[in-house]
Amino acid sequence: WNKIALIGAMNEEIELLVSHMTDVRETIKAGITFREGTYFDKQVVVCRTGVGKVNAAVTTQILIDNFGVEAVIFTGVAGALDPELNIGDLVISSECMQHDMDVTALGFPRGVIPYEAKSTFEADSKLVELAVASGEKLFAGKVKKGRVLSGDQFIASREVVASLYEELGGVCVEMEGASVAQVCSMNATPYVVLRSMSDKADGSAHVNFAEFTVQASENSYKMVEDIVKHL
Ligand code: ADE
Repeated sequence: WNKIALIGAMNEEIELLVSHMTDVRETIKAGITFREGTYFDKQVVVCRTGVGKVNAAVTTQILIDNFGVEAVIFTGVAGALDPELNIGDLVISSECMQHDMDVTALGFPRGVIPYEAKSTFEADSKLVELAVASGEKLFAGKVKKGRVLSGDQFIASREVVASLYEELGGVCVEMEGASVAQVCSMNATPYVVLRSMSDKADGSAHVNFAEFTVQASENSYKMVEDIVKHL
């Protein structure tokens, strides 16, 4: 890959990327600042997508069309769904799905996008492999590979956590991954989502998110740095 996108939704999730870049050139499009430059000898584009699926989708398509990125790595924080995951632990996407896609009234299973060939979007096997290797090296025993669920909702309820984990099989929940994954799938562009747990998406999620987002973002960043060094 000649050029890769390293992206996150919020400032906390990209600031370490930005601070390690050199030869930075900024372009603004659709209100998003795209930073092209060098990162550990690789040509990259770093940007903050903004929160939610629409922001992430638009940004990803622009990265592919206007900046010619050949792979996308998303880094950031998420709420844990798998009870074995603790705050600070990491998730590597095997695939992503939109948990808020709900056409059950017409008989489609929860999460299924009507009339599409697929509703779960598989991450790139090479990026996943590199992420697993980095995770084992840097965060042994604290990393899981699994299905990342995305929706335009901040989840803060144990009941919802139980249903997302049991019915949809998600290991963590966030607000962008599946839209990045779908856009990448539509453009045959490899991607992986890396997330560190800022909270457990329960009644304490808002407090935990505020307290742990910076540390969790740093954990996710460390994985990205190690992956890029091995690309
Ligand atoms: N990102 C971090 N924590 C989250 C949560 N509980 N729900 C949705 N997105 C999140």
